Amino acid sequence: MSEKQGEPSEQGTGGKNPKSGPIQQVSQWEVIQNRRRILSNPLPFHREKFDALGNTFIVRIGPRKRIVFTREPDTIRSILQKNHRNYAKSELQTRDLAKYIGHGILTSEGDFWRKHRKMIQPAFHKDQLRGLLGLMFRAIREELQGLPENEVLDIFPRMSDLAFQVVAQSLFRAGDFRKDMNRLQEITEENQKMLIREMRQPYLKWWFKLSGRIGYHLGLSTQARELLDGLIEERVQSGLHRGDLLDMLLGARYDDGRPMPRHQLIDELIILFTAGHETTANALSFAVFLLARHPEKQERLYTEVRDLDFGQEDTLQVIRSLGYTQQCIEEAMRLFPPVYVIDRVSLSEEVVNGHPFPAGTTWLLSLYELHRSPNLWEDPEAFIPERFEPQKKKAYTGFYFPFGAGPRMCIGNNFAMNEMVLAVGWLVQNYRITTPTDVLEINPLISLKPGKVPLRLELREPGLSL
Ligand code: HEM
Repeated sequence: MSEKQGEPSEQGTGGKNPKSGPIQQVSQWEVIQNRRRILSNPLPFHREKFDALGNTFIVRIGPRKRIVFTREPDTIRSILQKNHRNYAKSELQTRDLAKYIGHGILTSEGDFWRKHRKMIQPAFHKDQLRGLLGLMFRAIREELQGLPENEVLDIFPRMSDLAFQVVAQSLFRAGDFRKDMNRLQEITEENQKMLIREMRQPYLKWWFKLSGRIGYHLGLSTQARELLDGLIEERVQSGLHRGDLLDMLLGARYDDGRPMPRHQLIDELIILFTAGHETTANALSFAVFLLARHPEKQERLYTEVRDLDFGQEDTLQVIRSLGYTQQCIEEAMRLFPPVYVIDRVSLSEEVVNGHPFPAGTTWLLSLYELHRSPNLWEDPEAFIPERFEPQKKKAYTGFYFPFGAGPRMCIGNNFAMNEMVLAVGWLVQNYRITTPTDVLEINPLISLKPGKVPLRLELREPGLSL
């Protein structure tokens, strides 16, 4: 299911954008001919077509069905920001994903979405997150300090556990819930796999239903909901205020002063786990792999973290002092944006970049291609964290969107950046990281996942017990 991709690679030199003249099309026949490669990894196919047909092209996937692909920055900004009111999320999110994870801010639309976004947003405000940073760091250290040394290990499952635990502890501070959280993680990951099967084999949908597979996974979702309900009830009964995200959500009120109903609170919690854990695990794994491949960048990062006392100093100050670490993560998310495509469906006819598109047009905004477009980035395939130096990075604000853009931009972006800076900083402070491979497997599913990420960790101070 994965395809190997060298890094850096020599691909991608085109990028012409036919502003005048019709937008070019990929026929349904060509899609059928290429279906195996598209299913295993669509990114090389996307690249070929962008290079050959321009920054926006149409893919026909049925007699009347078509998807418009774009890596054109003006078009992406227009859809996500300026004209966002004319676009909704596709049914993949609002129906298929919602079936397993419920109707919360990630999977809803319109007034329902607006009302809940407004209510949840304050919990992710920088000032609110500040109180969680110490806890976040302890959760990270707990996950990383037992890593095996001097042997090759796949870092991705470790990063996945780390990201899950960080969300779990930030939501339910200091509870005795490890067993429950492990179960929740299993369910989240099992249901995600099922959703991917449904997406990849839509022609087997009838069989998945008939054989009881879908029923089984919906049953898992019910289990997850019951488990969370129990944890919430425990908190409510205890009357304790722990200053975690759950407290914030329990205290949040609609405009009319009502709290969120319990079933809605549960949906939002499941969504935070789902949206917050895999994306961060992917970004962390890619970032650490790139640092292993570029020892000179890793050593520069090390000089930044060498003398810090992560556990003792004010965690916010620690994060603020890690500018180069942040640049490395930003550059890793440029090359490997965990949300590599964003989809939208237009609500009414619109002229985009001089071309009319009818209502109901499905758009696929390729962040992966935008972030590697040779027209926008110098040496786009190379890992150069220096391009994100504070005085330089302003130049990219119009075409660097790892967290999306506009009103539906990621609610957890500060949360994720804090977490990743702490995790990468601590890891490089303590270990010299190398990799036996110069080829990274990538696995573009719902998010852009790495396959195996083989790394070798060597303690920088042998004999030190972490
Ligand atoms: C590196 C880590 C992350 C990346 C790259 C990322 C990326 C994104 C992107 C691109 C979107 C917008 C999708 C769209 O417009 O269709 C999004 C939305 C969202 N993200 Fe993140 N995310 C990350 C981490 C997190 C974390 C840690 C949380 C929460 C704990 C979170 C919660 C959400 C939620 C709830 C939404 C939906 C917001 C809405 O529609 O109003 N994300 N994320």
